[in-house]
Amino acid sequence: MSETTYPNYSPGLQGVIGGVTSISKITVEESRLEYRGYNVHDLASQGSFEETAYLLLKGELPNAAELAEFNKTLDSERSIPTEVITALKSCAKGTHPMDMLKAAYSVLSGFDPDYNADPTDHDANIRKAIRILAKAPTIVTAAYQISQGKEPIAPKAGLRTASNFLYMLHGSEQDDYTELVMDASLTLYAEHTYNASTFACRVCVATLSDIYSGIVTGIGTLKGPLHGGANEEAMAMLMEIGTPENAEPWLRDALATKKKIMGFGHREYKVGDGRAIYLTEVAKEIGRRKGNTKWGDIADIMEKIMREEKNIYPNVDFPAAYAYYLLGIPIELYTPIFVMARVSGWSAHAIEQLDNNRLIRPSCIYEGKLDLKYVPIQDR
Ligand SMILES: CC(C)(COP(=O)(O)OP(=O)(O)OC[C@H]1O[C@@H](n2cnc3c(N)ncnc32)[C@H](O)[C@@H]1OP(=O)(O)O)[C@@H](O)C(=O)NCCC(=O)NCCS
Repeated sequence: MSETTYPNYSPGLQGVIGGVTSISKITVEESRLEYRGYNVHDLASQGSFEETAYLLLKGELPNAAELAEFNKTLDSERSIPTEVITALKSCAKGTHPMDMLKAAYSVLSGFDPDYNADPTDHDANIRKAIRILAKAPTIVTAAYQISQGKEPIAPKAGLRTASNFLYMLHGSEQDDYTELVMDASLTLYAEHTYNASTFACRVCVATLSDIYSGIVTGIGTLKGPLHGGANEEAMAMLMEIGTPENAEPWLRDALATKKKIMGFGHREYKVGDGRAIYLTEVAKEIGRRKGNTKWGDIADIMEKIMREEKNIYPNVDFPAAYAYYLLGIPIELYTPIFVMARVSGWSAHAIEQLDNNRLIRPSCIYEGKLDLKYVPIQDR
């Protein structure tokens, strides 16, 4: 392919402005991410995931009464129809939970009371987004329990997204710190401008398809290891490395053979991902509390070499991987957890797109053959 020689063409759409948004902003030089003007660091360290989800969907932070009402609505929407559980049980053994999530949201869409609403109906879209968000921890844990040959655990009234997820995963409530870390990680994962899955979601709904279709498109796009799947791959890599002593030889060998190091690098951030800086502190604190600093030590060695050799920094998926591992979360749930958070960002983008819609349909450069003479099949 001679793709780089074409004028006005950027492979991978790098640097191309694909739209206008007021949902989030990355300031690359400062490794800063803001959701509707609020620094994600402040939201993750001082607020709750539900405050962030409300902010993303409704445009403003809630006051105490609005947040209480929002949490009450989420609570009343947590359970999923038995038909969704049946669909999850119908998946082939060995199906990745991400593929099970696509099935679940596809089946769920028809059960939404606003299923027949006009796709551009803003209020109906907000109601759908809240249902999609509320049911995410129930769907993720049901998919996991079923993949393990177990029955799903029903949501517990009064628990929030992070604590209910942990409850439905483990069958019991977890300690405050575990819930706090899970909650903060959901805030960090909630939204990230025009990343691949969000853009795919916007492309989908811009055809005047519906939010559920946008969510399913987002899940499929997030699954890949160059995007959301990197957190699972990063943990697999850390486990393969195994010890701090092995980190340097393993990494140098991987770089010499031009391997992509999972959890490092980013299309936008070139001097570090602010989310990773914050989550690294959190992951190391979990390590200290659990008396297991091994993963943090391996990470330090890798980060130093990657900086020195490639000038590449870790992204959020790197500390998320060992933070979740230390919290006892099964590895195949790392990317589904990302979904649980990102449904808020995808929905906000889908609504923003549908509120002011134009079909997204870029052009391309054709470089195949032309003017060939059609030869009837019997003569070929
Ligand atoms: C995220 C990612 C896809 C961004 O890719 P991109 O903007 O298209 O950048 P490229 O893949 O073209 O990389 C540019 C250069 O940096 C190198 N590079 C980028 N990320 C790297 C990584 N994780 N490990 C090793 N080298 C890396 C590439 O090999 C390339 O080097 P070259 O110019 O010598 O060929 C890429 O960094 C990556 O694959 N990271 C690993 C997966 C990951 O963690 N994804 C989660 C993102 S939040």
